[in-house]
Amino acid sequence: MYENLFEPISLGPTKLRNRIFNPPHGTTLGAGGLVSDDLIAYHEARARGGAGLIILEGMAFHPSFAFESAYLNAGRDDIIPGMARLSRACSRYGTAVFGQLFHAGRSVRYSHDGSRPLVYSASDTPDDRYRVVPIPMPNEMVWEVIESYATAAARLAEAGLNGIEILASQGYLIGQFLNPRINHRKDEFGGSLENRMRFLSESIAKTRHAIGTEKTLGVRVTLDEKTNSGVEKEETIEICRALEKADHLDYFSVISGSSASPDGWIHVFPPMAVAPAFVADDAAQLKSIVAKPVLVAGRINQAQTASQILSEGKADMIGMVRALIADPDFPNKVAENRSEDIRACIGCNQACVGHRLTHHAISCIQNPVTGRELDLKPQPIQSKRLVWVVGGGPGGMKAAVTAAGQGHKVVLYEKQSKLGGQVNLAEKLPGRSEFGGVTTNLMNELDRSSVEICLASSADPDALHAIGPDVVIISTGAVPRLPEAEVTDMQLLSAWSVIAGESPAGQNVVIADWSSDWSGLGVAHMLALSGHKVRLLSGASTCGESIPAIVRDQWVGELHSLNVEITCYARFFGAQARTAFFQHTINGEAIICEDVDAIVSCYPPQSNNDCDWMSDLITPDNPSFQIKKIGDALAPRTVEEAVLEGVKAAWSIR
Ligand SMILES: Cc1cc2nc3c(=O)[nH]c(=O)nc-3n(C[C@H](O)[C@H](O)[C@H](O)COP(=O)(O)OP(=O)(O)OC[C@H]3O[C@@H](n4cnc5c(N)ncnc54)[C@H](O)[C@@H]3O)c2cc1C
Ligand SMILES: Cc1cc2nc3c(=O)[nH]c(=O)nc-3n(C[C@H](O)[C@H](O)[C@H](O)COP(=O)(O)O)c2cc1C
Ligand code: SF4
Repeated sequence: MYENLFEPISLGPTKLRNRIFNPPHGTTLGAGGLVSDDLIAYHEARARGGAGLIILEGMAFHPSFAFESAYLNAGRDDIIPGMARLSRACSRYGTAVFGQLFHAGRSVRYSHDGSRPLVYSASDTPDDRYRVVPIPMPNEMVWEVIESYATAAARLAEAGLNGIEILASQGYLIGQFLNPRINHRKDEFGGSLENRMRFLSESIAKTRHAIGTEKTLGVRVTLDEKTNSGVEKEETIEICRALEKADHLDYFSVISGSSASPDGWIHVFPPMAVAPAFVADDAAQLKSIVAKPVLVAGRINQAQTASQILSEGKADMIGMVRALIADPDFPNKVAENRSEDIRACIGCNQACVGHRLTHHAISCIQNPVTGRELDLKPQPIQSKRLVWVVGGGPGGMKAAVTAAGQGHKVVLYEKQSKLGGQVNLAEKLPGRSEFGGVTTNLMNELDRSSVEICLASSADPDALHAIGPDVVIISTGAVPRLPEAEVTDMQLLSAWSVIAGESPAGQNVVIADWSSDWSGLGVAHMLALSGHKVRLLSGASTCGESIPAIVRDQWVGELHSLNVEITCYARFFGAQARTAFFQHTINGEAIICEDVDAIVSCYPPQSNNDCDWMSDLITPDNPSFQIKKIGDALAPRTVEEAVLEGVKAAWSIR
């Protein structure tokens, strides 16, 4: 099955064992601009998992853009030894490694010292997303940056990398030069298309000269920036035609979106609301005009989709960033005909993109070992233990399967008739059904394990005394909480019950959203789609403040289309006589909503104390078993922490 994914291919001088590549992605695993052991371990895991090619994260290379807390710096000679170790670690598995050279131009928010950064672009056109006004890059600096592409590429080649990719995509510096709406220069880098693409074509030509023909050279382009302010697709096609004619490149990599605008940005890190393989048709269009191999990425997380893109001739290689963050062994599993064992990425953008945007090492909510390859490892057990896991949400499921994987005897109790916990609610939100993949993936893992699953049942004191487990992992999750405010003559429902199917009486619904996460946005979306007039009042400075910005931005756009009224800084105070009262969280002034039929509350859930009785059974003279509490049972948070704590609890049982 899917054999075409495993046909070898050459990108210029580099021969690849298969068609699956890991596109560039910032990991925040570097250390002060240099390669760290953590970064090597991260990529080694993906090489071991079978990726044919890894293209390393966008690296800075010139002082006009060098933010070393977040980016590797290929402008430094001392990057060479670490880069050489990384390259050797991956080549041991037959995986080629390229390096991507990246300059963000004006798309920069942070400086080294917290002051507002001085940023450069083609012109002083302000950036709509980062809200900065750049300095037009002086002519001599443009030539200097072009030279720096070449010297940085030579440095990476010296470190043993097999190739170099120049990032000309997603609205970053080269994209800013290409774009006539941004580039208003009067010198040889502005005006005609030929002038606007001079920065790119000179960088490519000089880089090729610097690395010779023994190394691969490619470019990453965006055909559709998914914003009105982007480069026109037809122009990018013209640019690619001209680049192919110049004959310095070995491949084109196609992607979508633009970092420079709020709408385009959503497609740079496409959440689950964006269709799978959404860039494949752009790749096909480019493939019809260039002869060199075309690489594509963008929400490709299934072997079947990947294989189909190849068989339809839309692209020559398939890129997977988040699919390999979630499951580094994806390629090997497909090769071994075990596609059903793959832990599919669900496009939640939480621990990968979310961590990256807050300058933390990337990980995955479903696979906490990602980004922690050196720190989070099992140790051999001393003896086989009997482990009870009470609560079959994501935390309990992960704990059970992980403990069983260590050789323990595990029984998982779930009081409902199905596993999944709160994920069973989360997946009901509009456009969020893919979130249910958390449960599906874990159920697949459980199916392959020795865990005994007891549905519609729980741990009880008699059984506990009679059977005597060695360890009990409490993963009973959380329960909803209603606000203490006074609500009279009006219906007050929790978001959980609305999502589960209870309909608010009446047309006009006010959502009192303390949590400012998925539940407020989701229940507003759900009710607006079912015809209610919805007012969403959030206690935070923006609704959805607690969730990754891209997911929030995409959702806010949807709510605007549905005429949901959004008010922020609003603390719920009470309701009576069809009027809901809120208080501005800063100045305390009243915010009044009239003609209200029902209040839906998104108040923070509280930990479920169902199993607190167990602690009473343990006394200093009778430490008969150990208790480990994880996930929302410890404190209500998200799937990420529940799964991470499940793994840690299971691996701590020796
Ligand atoms: C609407 C909604 C949307 C959400 N969206 C997201 C999202 O997009 N991303 C994200 O990361 N998080 C999201 N969350 C939060 C996330 O689902 C929870 O943080 C996570 O499920 C917690 O996992 P858990 O295993 O600790 O507990 P839970 O998921 O609460 O599971 C606990 C399980 O224990 C069972 N149980 C309880 N008592 C007993 C007992 N005595 N015996 C046996 N079983 C028992 C329960 O029936 C339940 O199945 C959302 C939550 C909601 C409500
Ligand atoms: C955490 C993260 C960091 C990224 N950093 C880069 C980067 O440095 N250079 C780049 O060209 N694309 C970057 N991207 C975009 C990815 O290369 C890719 O196009 C995108 O994730 C869509 O592919 P996927 O659906 O397989 O994840 C990044 C993506 C993620 C998730
Ligand atoms: S955190 Fe979510 S989007 Fe990121 S890799 Fe994991 S499943 Fe995919």
